[in-house]
Amino acid sequence: MASAPSSLCQVCVVLFLASSLGRCSVEQMTWKQDAVIKNAIFHRDLLFTMTDRLSAIDCGRRCSQTENCVSFTFTRHSSSRGACRGHSSSLTSQTPSSTEPGTEAYSFVGKKVWLDPAEQQLQSDWVRKKCATDLDCPADNATCFRNMVCLCLPGYYYSHKGDNCVPECSPADLQTGFMDYPSGLLNSHVLHYVPSGVSLLHCQRYCTRDAVCRAITFVRSSGMCMTHHVTPLDADDVHVCWFPDMTPHFYSQLTCA
Ligand SMILES: *[C@@H]1O[C@H](CO)[C@@H](O)[C@H](O)[C@H]1NC(C)=O
Repeated sequence: MASAPSSLCQVCVVLFLASSLGRCSVEQMTWKQDAVIKNAIFHRDLLFTMTDRLSAIDCGRRCSQTENCVSFTFTRHSSSRGACRGHSSSLTSQTPSSTEPGTEAYSFVGKKVWLDPAEQQLQSDWVRKKCATDLDCPADNATCFRNMVCLCLPGYYYSHKGDNCVPECSPADLQTGFMDYPSGLLNSHVLHYVPSGVSLLHCQRYCTRDAVCRAITFVRSSGMCMTHHVTPLDADDVHVCWFPDMTPHFYSQLTCA
């Protein structure tokens, strides 16, 4: 099993879009799960309690919409529901008021405004989660990619609507966000090729501005960019070559509505 590069190791960090700031920019809040605080409930500086939250991400979204909210706990009650408690102070220095199994604590890390929708993060509980087997990735047509990280089976599109992976996506439903697959290279069916010097953002833009583009191959070290109008599911001769070790290449596919 290959070890994950640090960019994939951020299992403790929940990223999501807090709000859309117009068509071409998004605000992204970053929360970090506290590795030490487990199953603890706090009463001090409690701003709100909500018992109908879908996930920790949903809870974080609520906290980010609440003035002064800097930390929260999420207690999972069922596979799709849980209790969310927002606080106006850090939880790390506090003594818990009670314990409740299944509770995770999160604190605010930072806020970032992206100026391009190609940087869209996926709002999902399972995407990019660390995993050991496919069972850790509970969504249709999802896989534990390289026994490391939950992604869609290569060739499938991540569907924002279903929070699962679908084999087809109509051109009207293609989104500007991508799902990245480390150490992959699709070296045929190239629409547009730039040998070096391209930034990831520009490579993604070549794709999102081209109505028939579906995926890119990008090499971080050199800035090589290829865009593709096919995915590995479209034809028998479309293959992503997966390198055994971590390389700076990656295959990245557009997501779907
Ligand atoms: C999963 O993939 C199969 C086979 O391609 C497809 O029939 C099924 O509809 C997919 N699931 C979803 C939710 O699209």
